[in-house]
Amino acid sequence: MSNAQSNPPSTGFSHEKVETSNFLMIVLILLVVAIGGLVEIVPLFFQKSTTEAVQGVKPYTALQLAGRDIYLREGCYNCHSQMIRPFRAETLRYGHYSVAGEFVYDRPFQWGSKRTGPDLHRVGGKYSDEWHRIHLVNPRDVVPESNMPAYPWLEKNRLDPVQVQRSLRALRTVGVPYTDEEIAKAPEAVKGKTEMDALVAYLQGMGLALK
Ligand code: HEC
Repeated sequence: MSNAQSNPPSTGFSHEKVETSNFLMIVLILLVVAIGGLVEIVPLFFQKSTTEAVQGVKPYTALQLAGRDIYLREGCYNCHSQMIRPFRAETLRYGHYSVAGEFVYDRPFQWGSKRTGPDLHRVGGKYSDEWHRIHLVNPRDVVPESNMPAYPWLEKNRLDPVQVQRSLRALRTVGVPYTDEEIAKAPEAVKGKTEMDALVAYLQGMGLALK
């Protein structure tokens, strides 16, 4: 009868060494997470489905872009997501689920996750411009039980044409394909328009590509 140990001979770099050294454990975990992360993230920069616009998606017009800036300023994203998930309950209520190629000109995107109000990704064309105006001035006038805040100042404030032009220019530096002509004509396109005009134009253009 032999009572020799059945452990394999030590190779100098045993599992035990990793498990008993905090430092080694941390370094190796970071290495594994880093490689795993890169493998998931890097291909997204090169896939057509995430880098190319789906058919029908165009860069925002000057007026829509001004509206989008107001959407951000007023914090609409605190209550509204713009991301329809691929579940039956969502697509029945809102329409086609959102796909990455619809957001290539959205910088930053407004997906969000907080839904005090409904998702807005496919709200374009759902109501008339007039409905939106009444709703934004006082939501209770059209939806009596609404707890959405009122935004009456949007009717009174005029857009700053120079600021809108700067927004277009800034987006071009990060890759949105605005032409020189579009940028030159931007101030003219929003001259005299109110913040309400802009916000409604933005909402009405939302999600039309995959309706
Ligand atoms: C405090 C939360 C809250 C904020 C902030 C908010 N909303 Fe709402 N919104 C709601 C709720 C709740 C509803 C559903 C009731 C209604 O239609 O008023 C709604 C409904 C809507 C609808 C109608 C959607 C549909 O499909 O019927 C639109 C459009 C909308 N909001 C736009 C906006 C915009 C634009 C802003 C920013 C200027 C904004 N909301 C800010 C809570 C909010």
